[in-house]
Amino acid sequence: MKLLAASILSADFTRLADEIAAVEAAGADWLHIDVMDGHFVPNLTIGPPVIEKIKKVAKIPLDVHLMIHHADLSLEDYTRAGADFLSVHVEASPHLHRSLSRIRELGVKPSVALNPHTPVESMGYILSEVEMVLLMSVNPGFGGQSFIPAVLKKATELKNLRDEHKLSFKIEMDGGIKADNISQISQAGVDVFVVGSGIFQTKDYKTTISTLKKNINPQ
Ligand code: DX5
Ligand code: ZN
Repeated sequence: MKLLAASILSADFTRLADEIAAVEAAGADWLHIDVMDGHFVPNLTIGPPVIEKIKKVAKIPLDVHLMIHHADLSLEDYTRAGADFLSVHVEASPHLHRSLSRIRELGVKPSVALNPHTPVESMGYILSEVEMVLLMSVNPGFGGQSFIPAVLKKATELKNLRDEHKLSFKIEMDGGIKADNISQISQAGVDVFVVGSGIFQTKDYKTTISTLKKNINPQ
């Protein structure tokens, strides 16, 4: 089943609870939450205290994307805050196997995120440890950037690796996804589509999300 994750990075943070309720009512399957540290990526966002508040109002799963160095130091905090999926970046994780095992031990679904230039081949060694692989389709740090088409091939390669190893992790793509390219991204093998500005910068979330979902599975 294909899923749509609304990235709150582009939401109006002064009215976050209303924005969350609106995308839920409009049919978003997950909330995607971007955690940035100002070091691994050139931007700073939110951390566990805000996620804990979001968890209190959200009805759908929280897909927490950590764009931070030293994630191992705060995995318990994100678990306690209410993450359902936790993604750590391979480029910021020297002991990736350990980080993923720890996330699972904490009762959260482990996921690994790859920057646009990072190849999927090396993932073969840890794919059995993950519930999801997050393929970045922009350079992480900001919403509203343009989709990098070269990553489509990575989704297909990853799907082939998944079949080859008889695994069932989800393939998620994040960045620059809009109604006009989501169908092509779906055909490349993506299961979970993260959309930020493509939802929150439109007027009618319901119409936008129905169009996105219709284009994921064209008749
Ligand atoms: C970027 C974030 C994305 C971002 C996507 O670093 O990981 O989740 O919100 O935003 P759009 O959909 O606007 O490209
Ligand atoms: Zn993200």
